[in-house]
Amino acid sequence: MNKKYAITLLLFALFSLATKAQKWEELSQTPQMGWNSWNKFQGNIDEDIIKGIADTMVSSGLRDAGYVYINMDDCWHGKRDANGFIQADPKHFPHGIKALADYIHARGLKLGIYSDAGTETCAGRPGSLGHEYQDALQYARWDVDYLKYDWCNTVNVNPRGAYQLMSDALRASGRPIFFSMCEWGDNQPWRWARDIGNSWRIGPDIWCSFDSTRVFPTYVQYSVLDCINKNDSLRRYAGSGHWNDPDMLEVGNGLTVNQDRAHFTMWCMMASPLILGNDIRHMSAETKAILTNRDLIAIDQDKFGVQGLHLFSRDGLDYWFKPLENGDWAMTILNPTRKPIVCNLNWQDFNFTDDEVSKRSTAFDKCVYKVKNLWTGRMEGKTSTKQKVDRKLTVPAQDVVVYRLLR
Ligand code: GLA
Repeated sequence: MNKKYAITLLLFALFSLATKAQKWEELSQTPQMGWNSWNKFQGNIDEDIIKGIADTMVSSGLRDAGYVYINMDDCWHGKRDANGFIQADPKHFPHGIKALADYIHARGLKLGIYSDAGTETCAGRPGSLGHEYQDALQYARWDVDYLKYDWCNTVNVNPRGAYQLMSDALRASGRPIFFSMCEWGDNQPWRWARDIGNSWRIGPDIWCSFDSTRVFPTYVQYSVLDCINKNDSLRRYAGSGHWNDPDMLEVGNGLTVNQDRAHFTMWCMMASPLILGNDIRHMSAETKAILTNRDLIAIDQDKFGVQGLHLFSRDGLDYWFKPLENGDWAMTILNPTRKPIVCNLNWQDFNFTDDEVSKRSTAFDKCVYKVKNLWTGRMEGKTSTKQKVDRKLTVPAQDVVVYRLLR
């Protein structure tokens, strides 16, 4: 091979590697938004449900609010064919996954699929162990856009190796496929998965409770508050391209409106994936209003890409701040208790620098911000640079007050 030819070849290889990596990063510049079947339907899914959800994503305005992934969770699988390629369950998905992907793409949405790093999924369907490249190739052939990769039945499987392997397989498939790691935080993926996945679960499954952990003999399920508490110490690991995932939303699945509002707000404050877990075909006007609050979604999707911080707790209330692009801040007062709490708001209590991640200062003693209440949509004056009680607030039980502070 002559030298010139070799250099051209090398440059070409480097260029295609770089564009592949770039495409990959672009998938998760901000946290992913979409819907997943598990919280509401568990394994009882079929193509009509998925198509109905896709139709409603469009007609309800959820797609236009940013929710684009339609993710099938466990139990879409049939058997492997004679060559080892996974097939859809023919009874519940008679037209196959490619046809479903076409249906979803025609509506400006994207299709997500689910597998597991072990021998079987959590619900006993075929896992990807030993079939990683083949499965990734099959998903790419079906035009799938997203993979949630679970961690059941993985005795003697090395977590980092298993997720790296599937990550490599997805990249080799030639199609940019979002990689959502679901390892439940058992092996602290935030420490090693930054370049492996686009997001990683930080803990056990959520269940539809605001404040009670559900304990089973061999595992637990987290309440909304458990998820928030676990995520509290992990903010330094999140950023553009790789997000902490405190699990899918339970909004619309039976919490009170106040709890739903607090749940959604805190996911936005924590720059969490916003994956809806309710049956959007039959949601109430209140649920829809929460899920489509553009001001809140903008906090989650903010391009500055910093997970919010829990500044302190005082008199039963938790004070959270999230630095935003253009020098703005989001500020949330969360009342995790079952009683309303009254507080005196004095902006001078919140002068601090986010040394851990963004290095940004609130500088309330020097800067004046305009205050927008994001649940009422109303402008509420300006912050004061003086020591004074700006307002007396009642934060209802298990609810929030959330402001955008505009420079
Ligand atoms: C695990 C995951 C859940 C869901 C189920 C499916 O429990 O953590 O999110 O995917 O498996 O069986």
